[in-house]
Amino acid sequence: MKINITPVKQSKINSVDMKHLTFGDVFSDHMLIMDYKNGQWQDPQIVPYGEISISPAICSLHYGQVIFEGIKAFYSKQGKINIFRPQKYHERMNRSCRRLCIPEISYDVFLNCLLELIKLEKAWVPRQRGYSLYIRPFIFATDNHIGVRVSHTYRFMIILSPVESYYKEGLNPVRLITSGEYVRATKGGLGAAKTPANYAASLLPADEAQKKGFTQVLWLDAVTHKNIEEVGTMNICFVINNELVTPPLDGSILEGTTRDSVLKLAREWGIKVNERPITIDELFTASKAGKLNEVFGTGTAAVISPVGEIKHQESSIIVNEGKIGALSQKFYDEVTAIQYGEKPDKFDWIVTI
Ligand code: COI
Repeated sequence: MKINITPVKQSKINSVDMKHLTFGDVFSDHMLIMDYKNGQWQDPQIVPYGEISISPAICSLHYGQVIFEGIKAFYSKQGKINIFRPQKYHERMNRSCRRLCIPEISYDVFLNCLLELIKLEKAWVPRQRGYSLYIRPFIFATDNHIGVRVSHTYRFMIILSPVESYYKEGLNPVRLITSGEYVRATKGGLGAAKTPANYAASLLPADEAQKKGFTQVLWLDAVTHKNIEEVGTMNICFVINNELVTPPLDGSILEGTTRDSVLKLAREWGIKVNERPITIDELFTASKAGKLNEVFGTGTAAVISPVGEIKHQESSIIVNEGKIGALSQKFYDEVTAIQYGEKPDKFDWIVTI
């Protein structure tokens, strides 16, 4: 595989205030493009970041044959660039590809693309603690055809965005509300794939939640409206009676890499971990009995995000007096310390540049 690089004439980094970033608004100088045609992925190329030209008949715009990923790179204490668990994200990307009938990409090719692009964009990895370079690989179908069928051609791209925290709350607890009307995904559907349709389904309910003063929707299962699933922007974990409980990956939930990292750390620390169905009623009962110690979300963008309040129908629970819990803080500290190279990478999660 040969990567052809067309560098920018002049970097735009000096026009960016790297010390005051928001999430997902600024993009680095270059992007990677790799097309699929005649039954195979072609050589990738790195070109200046910019608009791409597509036909109005491109099938991904009409039928949504698209998948994406979200990965992060960190500027480490050692002055290197640490990419967090690229292999795990790649596995999920290929799972999403299979569900959406998109040709898979080998780990070698994927990692090479990632490394070459980030090497070129080193200056775009923010230097401050709490900031990172968000990596967005995505694949979209490119046949120009109106009609529902699997495309024959695709484009894989990677764009990079220096970011701060995803939620404006930062590490302050977020407020969640369930929806009695809408669902995110159902078993057999697309919920376990990282595909735009899941996020499109969440827009209206999230908008309504935000108008009521909540940060996000806590999704319940589509059939009984009782089992807690995830938040859409993150997986959800509960500390009940000092046991870590999180809904199982049963087909309608995204398999989060941060979720997996937290469960591995918890097991290593001797905390009892229980991946099992948990209903919203059980959560409220545990809270009333004083057994709900902490609630937090896990996600690449969200990292560890404490939850301070959950509203369901007419009732609300306030978690840990609306403050971040000790275990949530410990997970945040540990995961970020590994990401920034401040603690040993015992699990071999980091790929360093
Ligand atoms: C991520 O966590 O990386 C996502 O893609 C979710 C999105 C809310 C940014």
